Amino acid sequence: MKTIIEPFKIKSVEPIHFTTEDERVGILAVAGYNPFLIHAEDVLIDLLTDSGTAAMSAKQWAGMMEGDESYAGARSFFRFEKAVKDLTGFRHVIPTHQGRAAEKILFSLMGGHGKFIPNNTHFDTTRANVEFSGAEAVDLPTSEGLQTALVADFKGNIDVEKLDAFIRDKGAGSIPLCMLTVTNNSGGGQPVSMKNIRETKEVLKKYNIPLILDACRFAENAFFIKLREDGYAQKTPKEIAQEMFSYADGCTMSAKKDAIVNMGGFIALNDDELSIKARNLLIMTEGFPTYGGLAGRDLEAIAQGLTEVLDEHYLTYRIRSVQYLGEKISQAGVPILQPPGGHAIYLDAKRFLPQIPADQYPGQAIVCELYKAGGIRSVEIGSVMFGKYGENGKLISPPMELVRLAIPRRVYTQSHIDYVVECILEVFARRNSINGYRITYEAPQLRHFTAKFEPL
Ligand code: F0G
Repeated sequence: MKTIIEPFKIKSVEPIHFTTEDERVGILAVAGYNPFLIHAEDVLIDLLTDSGTAAMSAKQWAGMMEGDESYAGARSFFRFEKAVKDLTGFRHVIPTHQGRAAEKILFSLMGGHGKFIPNNTHFDTTRANVEFSGAEAVDLPTSEGLQTALVADFKGNIDVEKLDAFIRDKGAGSIPLCMLTVTNNSGGGQPVSMKNIRETKEVLKKYNIPLILDACRFAENAFFIKLREDGYAQKTPKEIAQEMFSYADGCTMSAKKDAIVNMGGFIALNDDELSIKARNLLIMTEGFPTYGGLAGRDLEAIAQGLTEVLDEHYLTYRIRSVQYLGEKISQAGVPILQPPGGHAIYLDAKRFLPQIPADQYPGQAIVCELYKAGGIRSVEIGSVMFGKYGENGKLISPPMELVRLAIPRRVYTQSHIDYVVECILEVFARRNSINGYRITYEAPQLRHFTAKFEPL
């Protein structure tokens, strides 16, 4: 087979700013060894997130000029609404400025004290919005999903048996909805199978509990189903995505991922009454229901992006380019969460730096070394992001210590990725001489964004 190439020509470019290793050592110290506090200009290859960092197409930019900025009933809204309805089949489509705004509305209406929200794995803003409402966010991944070295097709699945048992234990009355995050971001960008979506729906149906998809990366998930699940090889990504949505009663969406735009989101629902309430909340915080925190031009770009993201050439390139990075480094012995996910590679920091205990933040150490070695920005997903303190003040760590290298959509070429590979291998070669970190400042919530560190 020939090389899978980027399925686009580059029409507009943005220079990246080179720094020396000495400069980066200084920049890192000023930023308190926290990549969120580094100026983006001082980053050479930015793999902090795949969210809102995509390159838009010429057609999307053309749509930006076409945007109808009328306050109410804008043409752009109807184009956006049509694109979302065509894809999801949901009756009500409500734009929001990004994914977490959709979550805030959903859980303000359906969350609350004494309630439980099961999910394969909550993303951190989803969990925060559930908890802010007073409800409890419950992750029910399969045991496969927690074994980093295991290669399996659908490690993003929810444990359907555990879900059923959980509902029986808590009572259906305390579970207002169940979510499935596709792909499972906090679980390594791993896909959820169609069988798992269908079985989840069957369990929920018995108890009359609605299923809501966290659909940020629905197209990547659909493509994995096409590649890996029996019976889907001949279907188009769009048909597969439509089937995924057909089992759900609604979705929240961050358009900053699989709608390939820099800003936007929506909530889509079948429930008429709930939608009325959602629109009323929207008006208070986001805007009138035909723009909801977005400009008309943003709605145009989302409508166009939702079509482009389902193109098979795009998805072939997208999934392959992430896999390419994963293959190159794992073949050289670097421990990664297997198999490569849809939007990111996750380094397994526990196996990369076994000499550094969790309370000295091995993931953070790798993040700092990658920045020093090559100006690469990544993010720790482990004890820094999810660590909590027990009563005795001791750190309680999450099951995995990971470093995420998220690949922005259509932004970097193969040689950028080859460079990233070289830097990772350089850091891996000197892993025995890498030390841990200590936190010198932390905020009470979501500490990873603003924490400061000191090398040990
Ligand atoms: N759900 C998932 C699965 C996500 O990955 C994100 C964002 C959100 C919801 C929230 O969407 O950012 O538009 O408000 N994930 C980004 C990331 C930030 O880096 O993974 P948002």
